[in-house]
Amino acid sequence: MKHKSLLLTLLLPLSVMATEVKSPNGNIVLTFTVEQGRPVYSLTYKGHDVIKPSHLGLELAKDKHASMGMNERDLMDDFTLKEEKTATFDETWQPVWGETRDIRNHYNEYVAVLQQQWLEQVTSAREGKQLAPRQHQRTINIRFRVYDDGIGFRYEFPQQTDLNYFLIKEERTEFALAGDHTAWWLPGDYDTQEQETQESRLSEIRNRFQQAVNWGNSSVAVFSPTGVQTSLQMKTDDGLYINLHEAACLDYATMHLELVDAQTKSLTTKLQGSSNAYTPNPAPSAYPLPKPFTFVSHLTPDATGLKGAMQTPCETPWRTVIVSDDARDMLSSNLILNLNEPCKLEDISWIHPTKYCGVWWEMIVGKSSWNYTDEFPSIKLDNIDWQKVKPNGRHAANNDKVKRYIDFAAKNGLDQVLVEGWNVGWEDWANMWKRDVFDFQTPYPDFDIKMLNDYAHSKGVKLLMHHETSSSTQNYERYIEDAFKLMNHYGYDAVKTGYVGDMIPRGDHHYSQSMNNHYLYVIKEAAKHHIMVNAHEATRPTGLCRTYPNLVGNESARGTEYEAFGGSRPDHTCILPFTRLQGGPMDYTPGIFETKLSTWSDNTSWARITIAGSLALYLTMYSPLQMAADLPEHYEKYDDAFQFIRDVACDWDQSIYLEAEPADYITVARKAKGTDNWFIGGKCDENGHQSVIRLDFLDKGRKYECTIYADAKDAHYETNPKAYTITKRKVRQGDVLKLKEAPGGGFAISLMAL
Ligand code: NOJ
Ligand code: CA
Repeated sequence: MKHKSLLLTLLLPLSVMATEVKSPNGNIVLTFTVEQGRPVYSLTYKGHDVIKPSHLGLELAKDKHASMGMNERDLMDDFTLKEEKTATFDETWQPVWGETRDIRNHYNEYVAVLQQQWLEQVTSAREGKQLAPRQHQRTINIRFRVYDDGIGFRYEFPQQTDLNYFLIKEERTEFALAGDHTAWWLPGDYDTQEQETQESRLSEIRNRFQQAVNWGNSSVAVFSPTGVQTSLQMKTDDGLYINLHEAACLDYATMHLELVDAQTKSLTTKLQGSSNAYTPNPAPSAYPLPKPFTFVSHLTPDATGLKGAMQTPCETPWRTVIVSDDARDMLSSNLILNLNEPCKLEDISWIHPTKYCGVWWEMIVGKSSWNYTDEFPSIKLDNIDWQKVKPNGRHAANNDKVKRYIDFAAKNGLDQVLVEGWNVGWEDWANMWKRDVFDFQTPYPDFDIKMLNDYAHSKGVKLLMHHETSSSTQNYERYIEDAFKLMNHYGYDAVKTGYVGDMIPRGDHHYSQSMNNHYLYVIKEAAKHHIMVNAHEATRPTGLCRTYPNLVGNESARGTEYEAFGGSRPDHTCILPFTRLQGGPMDYTPGIFETKLSTWSDNTSWARITIAGSLALYLTMYSPLQMAADLPEHYEKYDDAFQFIRDVACDWDQSIYLEAEPADYITVARKAKGTDNWFIGGKCDENGHQSVIRLDFLDKGRKYECTIYADAKDAHYETNPKAYTITKRKVRQGDVLKLKEAPGGGFAISLMAL
């Protein structure tokens, strides 16, 4: 029997009436229709265009296994709208940790049930005779949730014969924008998001792309001169803030966005520049190019160049659009958390917000080393007797030093001490295409794992485990059970993981479907062992911490470490809350007090921030995991300022964003969980900021002891970063505080209820 490749469309799709769905307060209106067989949506906010009519669909890959039931007909066109469903949902839930005690999840839902039908001509192979045509039918759903602060939508693929297994060549979700907006963007990259954010018009992305790439990063793979990452923050000329991102990225590749601009001839299918391995070049898209100022989804490929291997029933992550005319609403939005599934862990008693310090910054700065010896050109883990090797004298994770950090943590009420470089293998750890880099179990000879954990516990402190995988994920998965058992044995309950360098298996990328599955595997395995996870260089978060709240942190952006690698612009931390933090907290590792690194090391880089600005980050960069990253001896010199780090909470009942503008300033007030105490932080860019805070949110009739850590009059992130003032006064509801933030500075306030 021969199946002719020519497929006949059975039903010619008719143009149908558009359906409108409003958000609960009516400000947001979603429109959906099927036009010439293609699903189209658009979005308005208070009557303004947010997303102009945009197509939805997926191109599937042709595969050699088609005859085995691998479906390969595109999910792009020939659709008819078979059914429409609507619903309303309103529930308030409590996160295990978070910015607020209660989160309201209130939306109107619309599901478009779409059908493709076609007839397949079948010819008898033996007689060459035309047989009765075979009828095929496929159904997919596009589910929209319309909130007051934006929308989420996803593709759903029910199980069915004509859509059973399929491979994604590319997802073609369009976001047609209404103009040449200002955007805060990172160059789209399959492997890293440790770049400085670019601020430009959409039309300028192409010209600025090359210089925006962080070519010095240990793993880089850019795909298009107009490719950008999510979460993408934009602002329109008439003052609308629009954010594009995704929620609940599970068993799917991370989404980038490719801008169609005036010069675009076709959508990109191949890698443009890379420090990584070969990626094949699938055929270009056959579908018409959308209009300029349209972003089109671009998924991260795996080592084969494909974007996803799917088995129905399944669904894509939610594609999200957050929108408001008030920048503060972008920061208080819970849309991405709301689109994730509720907590899947039954016992959450072991998950707790954590303040920590660590044997870390001095290695990043280059004053000491992760590795124990400089004796060998390379290391094979099985061949070395570590007791006999010659120490280099610079190894930081040694018993004496770790004890000093434990003492410091105990004295200052910090919960944990991170120790990096405790385990063998750091001699040749990154980008050697070496699979067996670490075993995550064998300490260096000068790190007594039992003694140090016992010592820490005797002082009410825990050690925080470090597992740098150097992106050798097979190796990590092989050892993970033993590594977590070791942690349980010695009483660790949190691990910082890391994925520096190109991926092993070779050719894969940090943000592919397979790697996203790896990160989730680690989170789930860790949960079985009651271990909290803080993953660096892993994929950017999409709110999965709601479902797996042991995912207490990620890096997945340019962190404080870059202050030692040449520095980050002062406005960097006034952008991240609008972009990277939309999907979940960041382990930004703030708190650098000795900002001029050359005053205490050979490193000539310097942190572009004042001390008061550093304190502000504990509020403006929300995270349940907060590091005091500088060295104990530096904090001891400025102990009056360090008092704020001792006092500040990292879990909250309430958060109120008081002032915000992307890349300019952010001011937030937060009420510490289970207390009546408030903390306020304000952080600004290189221009400084005049902040006016009305204390309307305090309890009526109550007095508060207010301590203000502010930039001194002449403070400046470059010329005078350590000039701060500390003032105390009593305040009550309705009082107004006026605070001047220095260039690159900020302020921090504690309000203790009396
Ligand atoms: C990069 C991480 O971001 C950093 O925090 C860590 O110290 C190094 N990798 C080594 O694992
Ligand atoms: Ca990093």
